[in-house]
Parts: sequence; structure tokens; C-alpha cells
Amino acid sequence: MARDQRDYYYHQAQKDGYRSRASYKLKQINERMNVIKRGDTIVDLGAAPGGWLQVARELSGGRILGVDLQPIREIEGVTTIKGDITAQETIDRILEFSKGGVDVVLCDAAPNLSGNWVLDHARGIELNDAAFECAKKILKPKGTFVVKVFQGDLFKDFYDRVSAEFVFVKSYSPQASRSTSAEIYVIAKRFITAPIRKNHLCAVEITGMGESGDGVAYLDDFVIFVSGSQVGDKVKIKIEDVKPNFAFATIIEKLDELPEDPYLTPKYVPNMTHSFAKPDPNAPQRQKILRVRDRSLDIDNYVPPEDEEDNEFS
Ligand SMILES: C[S@@+](CC[C@H](N)C(=O)[O-])C[C@H]1O[C@@H](n2cnc3c(N)ncnc32)[C@H](O)[C@@H]1O
Repeated sequence: MARDQRDYYYHQAQKDGYRSRASYKLKQINERMNVIKRGDTIVDLGAAPGGWLQVARELSGGRILGVDLQPIREIEGVTTIKGDITAQETIDRILEFSKGGVDVVLCDAAPNLSGNWVLDHARGIELNDAAFECAKKILKPKGTFVVKVFQGDLFKDFYDRVSAEFVFVKSYSPQASRSTSAEIYVIAKRFITAPIRKNHLCAVEITGMGESGDGVAYLDDFVIFVSGSQVGDKVKIKIEDVKPNFAFATIIEKLDELPEDPYLTPKYVPNMTHSFAKPDPNAPQRQKILRVRDRSLDIDNYVPPEDEEDNEFS
């Protein structure tokens, strides 16, 4: 970051009562990407001295946990753990806090920089991986993950792995961290907990029709829209796109009989440690899914709306 800019945010943080200038990065990320909603449960990994925790507390007002190698001075309404996020012992304590799932996992952790670019990048990615593994265990379906990454050779691989688990993933550099810094934030929204992934094959029977004219099948209570199918069809399908609550598929071939195991590609088991109640088929949510029409959402150019809860299919 240019010196002037650094000084600006440093003085601003003192004026506004924030513990670090990093607070403005989270504020700017949130202004652009709407990552925190009122009442959200939030886990912040690499949280000392607590600038992000202060902002998270202001924005959410819900349950908040901060974790760091360093002790974090008390913040009202925030729980803290002193521990290493790469250590199982710390993860166990985070899981204890996160029973029932969390809405947002933040990670601004940074390794001690050695000045060796390659080494620092690799150490950063190690922290990113630890945060990602933790996020997969504790996020609720449709949850959000925000993580700082130091750019380098391993960035794309990390970004791709995160992309496979969320509907919407973007990298973003807030103004407060711009200029010379190699850091960038990966913002991942709408954590997917489906039992299948893109290109998986399965065998299903069509049991209903959606308003869009696609056949509807269920796989372990997960909704799949199958284009060109009719009620009663038994079909081998290929998954084309996966959203948090439903997927789109095309027919590979019609079948006379369904195999005992519908998962022709092994079932995808999200790495979650908590379970959620099975959806009620008559719940408004399910009815809403069956009315889905727009199957051509442009995820790459997607900008999350203010009130995402009303935009179930983005
Ligand atoms: C840039 S600071 C975070 C600033 C914070 N977001 C704020 O607003 O105050 C990075 C933090 O990551 C922490 N950290 C680095 N490695 C860690 C690890 N393995 N486990 C936990 N925290 C770690 C450091 O101790 C440091 O406090």
C-alpha cells in the first residue's frame, strides 16, 4: 500500500476507534459484496488485534468468534480463542463454538513474512487451506467465506478449489489494500452442500414437472431439474450446473430399470460436521424452487443484490 494511503487509514482507524486499519478492508469488501447480514454468526480466523471483529460486531450483532495465535483484547459480545488455525486442537474449539453452523467465515490471517516471495506465498496458501477446510466444516448451506490470499503460483489452484464448493466466487482488492500489496481477497458466497457436483452421472425417476417445463427428480431430497423429461421417465442424467438448493441436468439415456444405487458417480459428501434438518417438501422454500425459470444466470458477472435472501436463484 502506498505510504500516504497507509497513513490515511492508520489515522482514520485511530479517529474511528478501530484497532487496525484492516477494519476498512472488511468495510469496503462488505460494501461491494454484501458479505455480512444482521444477525449472522461469524468466525474470524487470524483476527488479532481485532479490527475485523469490531466491524463484524457492528454489522452483524450476532455471535462472533475471533481466533489468533496472539491474544485478542476483549471486545464486548465477541468470543476469542488463542490458538493456531492449522492445529487440530484449535479446530476442535472452533467446532465447539460453531455447533449448528455459522453464516460467515472470515480469514485475514497472514504468515510472518520472511521476504522470500515464494516461501511467503506457500506459507500464506497453507493458512488459506487451513481456513478453507475449517470453513467447509462449519458453514451453513449458502454460507459465505472471505479469505485473504497472497498472489503467486498456487493462487489459481486454491481459487479453483474454492469455486467448486460455492455458487459465486470472485477475487476483490479493496481500496484500503490496493497499490503495491500482493494481497487479494477471495469472496465465496452460497456454500453448496449438494450430494452431486457438475458432470456427475446419476440415475433418477422423474416424479414431477417444474413450471419451466423441466422434469423434476429428487436425489436424497435434493431437487434436480431434468430438461426434456416427463413424469415417469427413468433416466441416466448428467449434472450440468449445481446451485445450493437444486441442480440442472440433461438426459444421457432412458433406462428400463433404476439401479439400486442412483449415484453412478460416487455421492459427493460435503465435509460438514453438523447436520441440518431435512427440508420439508411442503415448505415455501421447496415451492419456490419448483417455480424457478431463469437457468441462464451469469455467475461470472454476478453482483450480489442488497437483499440476497429474496434472490434465491442467484
Ligand atoms: C493482518 S493480521 C489480522 C488483522 C485483523 N484482521 C484485524 O483487523 O485486526 C494477521 C493475523 O494472522 C495471525 N496468524 C498468522 N498465522 C496464524 C495461525 N497459524 N493461526 C492463527 N492466527 C494466525 C497473526 O497472528 C496476525 O494477528
